[in-house]
Amino acid sequence: MMVPHVPPEATRQAGDLRRLIQYHNHRYYLLDDPAIPDAEYDSLMRELAALEARYPGLISPDSPTQRVGAAPLSKFTPYRHALQMLSLENAADLAQMRAWYDRIEATGLALWCEPKIDGAAVELVYEKGVLVTASTRGDGWVGEDVTANIRTIRGLPLRLTPTQEGVTVPELLEVRGEVYMNKRDFALLNEQADERGEKIFANPRNAAAGSLRQLDPRMTAGRPLRILSHGLGRVEGMTPTSQREAIAQLGSLGLMTAMKWSRLCAGFEEVETHYTELESRRDELPFEIDGMVVKVDDLARQESLGLRSRSPRWAVAWKFPPREAETTLAEIRTQVGRTGALTPVGVVAAAAVGGVIITSVTLHNWEMIREKDLRVGDRVIVTRAGDVIPEIVRVVTEKRTGDPPVPEMPLECPVCASSVLVPEGEIIPRCPNISCPAQVKGRILHFASRGAIDIDHLGEKVVDQLVEKRLVSDPSDLYTLTQDQLEGLDRMANRSALNLLGSIDRSKKTTLPRLLHALGIRHVGEASAWALAAAFGDLDSIRTAGEEELMKVEDIGPAVAQSIRAFIDDAGNQRFLANLGRHLVIEPMPKAPPTGGPMSGMILVFTGELESMPRTEAKKLAESLGARVAASITKKVTHVVAGSGAGSKIEKARSMKLTILNEDQFLKMAAS
Ligand code: IVH
Repeated sequence: MMVPHVPPEATRQAGDLRRLIQYHNHRYYLLDDPAIPDAEYDSLMRELAALEARYPGLISPDSPTQRVGAAPLSKFTPYRHALQMLSLENAADLAQMRAWYDRIEATGLALWCEPKIDGAAVELVYEKGVLVTASTRGDGWVGEDVTANIRTIRGLPLRLTPTQEGVTVPELLEVRGEVYMNKRDFALLNEQADERGEKIFANPRNAAAGSLRQLDPRMTAGRPLRILSHGLGRVEGMTPTSQREAIAQLGSLGLMTAMKWSRLCAGFEEVETHYTELESRRDELPFEIDGMVVKVDDLARQESLGLRSRSPRWAVAWKFPPREAETTLAEIRTQVGRTGALTPVGVVAAAAVGGVIITSVTLHNWEMIREKDLRVGDRVIVTRAGDVIPEIVRVVTEKRTGDPPVPEMPLECPVCASSVLVPEGEIIPRCPNISCPAQVKGRILHFASRGAIDIDHLGEKVVDQLVEKRLVSDPSDLYTLTQDQLEGLDRMANRSALNLLGSIDRSKKTTLPRLLHALGIRHVGEASAWALAAAFGDLDSIRTAGEEELMKVEDIGPAVAQSIRAFIDDAGNQRFLANLGRHLVIEPMPKAPPTGGPMSGMILVFTGELESMPRTEAKKLAESLGARVAASITKKVTHVVAGSGAGSKIEKARSMKLTILNEDQFLKMAAS
């Protein structure tokens, strides 16, 4: 097989693109200050992928195109840490904190105070600046090798690149840090899971830890993980003398640290002041923290203070008081969402949790009510994490009086009284009446939301009135509202009416992904809307596409395809789409990804042994030429490459009438 010679110009161009992509990752993930729109970033990635597809010799493991490459594992390999990964001793209150301070005779010592991130501990090993392994903490001595998963974290450099002049990359760098999710990303992830009827995560830490332990790195790649570095293991070629300096050096190598939220303190009083300040700013931080870690700053002094069995003497975690409170569950109400999903909401006696008064809690679904054995009148422990909706952690069963009835799922929609349905295989009951006012309101609010058509000044109160007065029965009616009609609403002055009309007018010019998202098709969120828009280019092509064709789009599975078809085939929706079409101007879609590579669009499965190269190599080759490689045979697979000893997959491929290639045919195709 001919592998094209790589001209120096292409090598230089790939290097430039990789540096540029890393720079933009740094701006986006670490500085939270993106310098270019997402579409432009995607086009840089596509340019690099096309270049690498043309010259496979350019591909190196640290290329940003290679983040998700590894095949699913059957289990993780144990990884022995060169230096033990320590845990921290906790101080639950001021007195315990003072006791630690006195015990180590800290008077006169500088103390480095940083947030305690609520995530999962990991160790990263960079050799000559290249990320070679990543592992979990495990028991401190032996963890698990999660390199393939960690590589998918976009904000993490696969190759260390100094962000300042005069910084050199160390020969060896073991970094300890925390894998976590930003609160906003976590909320979105749960929202999407909830929408799909999947299990939701209890908190960002569980979500991060669970994502890190996925055997299939593609699963991990779909989770919004981040990583923050807070310490060192073995190091060669870097000699910080203090904790502060170590953190600064990690930052200058392109790693995310908590420098911005950390402080060097002289004396107990300063530590206490910083603790109070950090706690008061807890909600402003993008991620969950559960305390402040206080570390002796001087590394030589750390060394002389030494270790206990599992934790160092030179550091302590001063925990924040828990954000929990006990209250009474007064009532369970049912809310109806835009897709008709009925969700229980708990009304609780007002309780202060971490400085905020809460009166209602989310209960997710009736199955969870049963799992938690929750009854109206129970004393319950409620918790609140930042801006996340408060939840019930558990019931204080000991305080229950009598035997209150087990809450039952309603049989009728509380808004329109239709009989509710529980679709087979699902746990969420639904109101089947698409004209149910609750659903209509929900659809309009969704249509107008930021990520969708984006209509400013259209709040819940206005939508309630518009629907109740029958001025609007689907989102397309928004475009025929008049100033008189709006001014007839409560609390709608002339000025507000004009503002709203202006926003509605501006929203007429939109894009296909926004429109697709706005339609509120079940299972079609922002990401699938983009994928569909990129694949089909215009609404008409989607309207006429069959389920099979829809499923060719990445991440569009049978349930989504079916839901799209059902939406389009519905007579009411056809009228709705036609009405919308009269008012909206859809801007042309940014170009679909260029399909470089002789195998682009192909989805391959390898089976059996190949003569000329190991399967992993063949897989890399196919991917570099634009193909996708799947682990098992599904309807989306286009070709099966069969080596010697291929087994049951061939039978299956034959029965599905897929194209089967032998090794020679595959290699010829690759070289063409
Ligand atoms: S230092 C010295 N610093 O908390 C040794 N740990 O409860 C230990 N953690 O296993 C780590 N934020 O995973 C350190 N700023 C921070 C931290 C932090 C979170 C985690 C870490 C550790 C656990 C101990």
